[in-house]
Amino acid sequence: MVSVREFKPEDAAQASVVFFESFKTYLKERMETDAPRPAEYTENLMRYTINEDCESISFVAEEDGRIVGCITVNLALKRGLGCLVRIGVMPGNAGKGIGKMLFRAADDFWKKRQTRKVRTCVSSINPGALKFYESCGFHVEATLKDHFFPGVDEHQLALFY
Ligand SMILES: CC(C)(COP(=O)(O)OP(=O)(O)OC[C@H]1O[C@@H](n2cnc3c(N)ncnc32)[C@H](O)[C@@H]1OP(=O)(O)O)[C@@H](O)C(=O)NCCC(=O)NCCS
Repeated sequence: MVSVREFKPEDAAQASVVFFESFKTYLKERMETDAPRPAEYTENLMRYTINEDCESISFVAEEDGRIVGCITVNLALKRGLGCLVRIGVMPGNAGKGIGKMLFRAADDFWKKRQTRKVRTCVSSINPGALKFYESCGFHVEATLKDHFFPGVDEHQLALFY
């Protein structure tokens, strides 16, 4: 059974693999690294932080002691503006509702904190993720041409509460 819980530092090595393998499914030769990031790198990105301006949190989906999905989100506290920083589900586990479970954990986090709006972005070469975000309530607010890669547009997505 898959369950979702808050990220712990000891999850970092597995989380690195989840992000590497899941992003590779659509980035392919555009990946910046040819191996998962070191655990310390991922721990720095995913660990819980809070200051007067920003709260950042990550959740993982776990099945039989294995991390099969991860999400990192934050909230600019004075602005009520959230960001879904990144989400990934292990390719063999995609399409089973795990992404939605991770989104729900983030959604609870935002709802408990008077969030106004959440933003994220998705590449035009990743239509499956766009469908996923739309199923979570996001809509395309703008499209940036030739953004991170030549010839690849980037959709800016918004979810209003
Ligand atoms: C995008 C991603 C996180 C979705 O996670 P998932 O566990 O596969 O998604 P779920 O099974 O929870 O699906 C939730 C909804 O999204 C839709 N969806 C998910 N992937 C889809 C796809 N490839 N094509 C069409 N619809 C898709 C599902 O149909 C489902 O719709 P419903 O709730 O109306 O039934 C996952 O596929 C992934 O890790 N992709 C690679 C990494 C990535 O693209 N990250 C985002 C970068 S911007």
